This record gives sequence, C-alpha cells and structure tokens, in this order.
Amino acid sequence: MKVARTLTELKDYRRAMVGSVGFVPTMGYLHEGHLSLARVARAENDHVAASIFVNPTQFGPREDLSTYPRDLDRDLAMLEAERTDLVFVPRAEDIYPVGFVTFVDVTGPLSQRLEAESRPGHFRGVTTVVNKLFNLVEPSRAYFGQKDAQQALVVQRMAADLNVNVQVVVMPTIREPDGLAMSSRNNYLKGDERRAANVLYRSLMRARELYLSGERDAEGVRREMRRLIESEPLSQIDYVSIADADDLSELESLNRRALVSLAVRIGKTRLIDNIMIG
Ligand code: PAJ
Repeated sequence: MKVARTLTELKDYRRAMVGSVGFVPTMGYLHEGHLSLARVARAENDHVAASIFVNPTQFGPREDLSTYPRDLDRDLAMLEAERTDLVFVPRAEDIYPVGFVTFVDVTGPLSQRLEAESRPGHFRGVTTVVNKLFNLVEPSRAYFGQKDAQQALVVQRMAADLNVNVQVVVMPTIREPDGLAMSSRNNYLKGDERRAANVLYRSLMRARELYLSGERDAEGVRREMRRLIESEPLSQIDYVSIADADDLSELESLNRRALVSLAVRIGKTRLIDNIMIG
C-alpha cells in the first residue's frame, strides 16, 4: 500500500495505476462504515484509493475541527487490511495553499435545508474538497455512505452539474448492534451518553413502524419522533425531518419516497442519522 503525503507522490503513484480506480474519501478515525466502502470499492475496481483529510473548510468556527479524533497509524493499518492500494494523506497547505479563493458551491434548496441550516458553509467545504480530491485522484468511481444522505445528494448534484467524470456510488449505513450509526464522532460519547445515543435509531424505527401501520400524516410521525427523543434526558433535538427523498422539501403526506432524518445533540456531541421510507 502506497501512502502519498504530497501532490507529487500522489501523481507518481496514480500514474502507475492502470484500469479502474475506486475512491473512498474520508476524514479518518476509520470504522466499519468507512471499511464497508473500501470493500465495495475493492470488489468493483482494479485499484482502490482512499484519502484521509480532516477538511477545515467544512467545519464551522464553533465546531470540532481541533478536537476531531485522529489516529493515522491505526487508519493506515485498517486500510491495508482491506487491500487498499493508495492512501492520500495531504497536508492542509497543499489543499489550501496561500491565495486559495475558489470554491465549489451547490446552490439551491438541496444545500440549504437540514444540515445546511445548522451548519452554514458546511456543504461548500465538502463539495470544494471532494471536487479537488476527484481532480487529484482521478477515480472511476467514488463511494459515499447513506449515513450522510444529504452530503451524498449534494455530491451527486455537483458531479452531474459540473460533468465530473466520476460515478458517485452511495452505500448503506453500517450500525452498531444497538442501531447507533457508526461515526467517528461516537468516540466523543462518554458514560451514559453512549446508551442514550441509540434514541436516534429508536425514533427512526418508530417512524418506520408508524408508516408500515398505515400512518400517512408526516407531521404526526415527526411529532411522535420528537416525543420519543425528548423522553431521553441527555438529548436535545436540532431537527427532525421527513422530506422528499430527491429535493429534501418537507412533506405533509407520506405519499412518496421519503428521507426521514434527524440531528440530535447527546450532551455536547451532535449526531445525525436517517432512513428511507416508502
Ligand atoms: P467521514 O465522516 O470520514 O466519512 C467518510 C465516508 O464514510 C462518507 O461517505 C460517509 O458517509 C461514510 N460513512 C460514515 N459513517 C458511515 C456509516 N456508519 N455507514 C456507512 N458509511 C459511513 O464524510 C466525510 O468524511 C467528509 O465530508 C468527506 C466526504 C471525506 C469530505 O471531507
């Protein structure tokens, strides 16, 4: 497994790859969710490339950029075990050199709702870095998790609008045994918080249950999800959404494919999760 730490190294290693390249961009502190993406990339491509970069432009000024968990040696060992061929670990100054002023911004409702409302500028940082990583790694396919459903939609939109020659593939959310979606941020959960954190998944399952029992009033389902989450004392709701799965507009009636998504703070840790229904 090659580890490229400079743009020149990346270029050299990339040039030596013949055939298709599957790419898994990450911010590191890897878990089974990331590795599931590396495995599909391995199965579907001649080569697998991953990147580890805690991208400063997607963090807000009061967010956790400086405390985001990092363990590069462990990450590299995990990627090597999945037979990854190339890992790009750029330095921030190579991605954002002095004088950098160009951003990729998906405008419109898709990148204004849900996560965008709570995290202004977040998606602009994501699409900018993903576009740069695509230009540098030149993958045939890139793998993203449904865990970050809105991110996947925004990246797909960006790729389509800018004629990016990369197939964006979205894979299912990998969960802990109690349903908690795997996330590098789960590492922040201390003591009782870890147990409390499965309230996100429980509320999503409650939404599915209501849908399957015939409930079609979206606000009724949101209300029941909020009630369940509020019954957990360590939790604080950021949003609970039932939205059109394509444009993320809030639904009144569950009469089409819907993305049920939520952001909840457990103590100081902000967690997100989602499922599709219908
Ligand atoms: P990060 O949070 O490290 O996630 C990297 C990829 O792993 C994303 O596509 C994310 O959706 C996926 N992922 C995370 N948890 C998952 C889970 N439990 N199951 C399945 N997939 C999961 O998302 C980012 O980094 C960044 O925004 C990035 C795209 C790298 C741009 O900086």
